[in-house]
Parts: sequence; structure tokens; C-alpha cells
Amino acid sequence: GAPIEADISKLEEGQMVIVEWRGQPVWIIRRTKAQLDALPGQDARLRDPKSTNTDQQPAFAQNEYRSMKPEVLVLVGLCTHLGCAPQLHAELKPEPFDADWKGGFFCPCHKSRFDMAGRVYQGVPAPTNLVVPPYSFIDDNHIMIG
Ligand code: FES
Repeated sequence: GAPIEADISKLEEGQMVIVEWRGQPVWIIRRTKAQLDALPGQDARLRDPKSTNTDQQPAFAQNEYRSMKPEVLVLVGLCTHLGCAPQLHAELKPEPFDADWKGGFFCPCHKSRFDMAGRVYQGVPAPTNLVVPPYSFIDDNHIMIG
């Protein structure tokens, strides 16, 4: 599949836009400072907090934000368990109740949870972090995916 270009000039803090690349949904989210600040505190509860599984992201995203620019998160929007579509739960706490929920993604099919970097929590069916696709910035407002 050819690379696609996404315009994020209208993407506000906390918002997500979904584009299609190679028949897959790709999420682009402009994370808030609070969401970024919450990431390090989740490490102890995650299966692969340091993104050591190099199949799940390009080398440029093997960092604590799993992204090229900290605020802009780009992920393939498919659960790494059986491919359902996880939902963005920025604040709403998913069931079963998690008092420490700091925002992230919840897969309704078998209740896998991921943080705001797409990192999978321990104790859920999904085996790995969500996939970060290859991408690059054309300029501040345009991303090339693929
Ligand atoms: Fe997402 Fe099973 S497909 S938890």
C-alpha cells in the first residue's frame, strides 16, 4: 500500500482522528500534558513498559512516549489480541473498575487495556503493545504514514 498523508492542523489536545492505511485504521491523537505526565507512573503495571518488543514500533518510537513527537501519538487501531477495535477512554473508567485509570484504550471484546502510549497492561488477553506504524512529519501539521 502507498503511504498516506494526514492533516492534523485541526486536531486539538485530547482529540483523536482516524485515517485508513493499508486497510487498517490508524489513530492520531494529540495527547494532553496530563496524559503525557501520567505515562511513567504506569510502568510497573505494564507488560512491556520500555517497548522492548521491536516488532511493535519503529526504532524512533522506542521511547517512553512511543512516538516521534511526545504529544502526537500514532497507532494502528487494532487490538493485539484478536484484532477488535479498542476504544479511547481518556477519562471514563472501563469495567472492571480501575481506580488508578489514567486514560488509555479499552478493548470491549475481551477487556484488554492499554495506556495513552498504547502499552498493554498486565493481566489482560492482549500479548503485546499496540502497533506504531512507520510515519514521518512532512511539517508540523502533516504526517506521512507508511
Ligand atoms: Fe481485544 Fe480480545 S480482541 S481483547
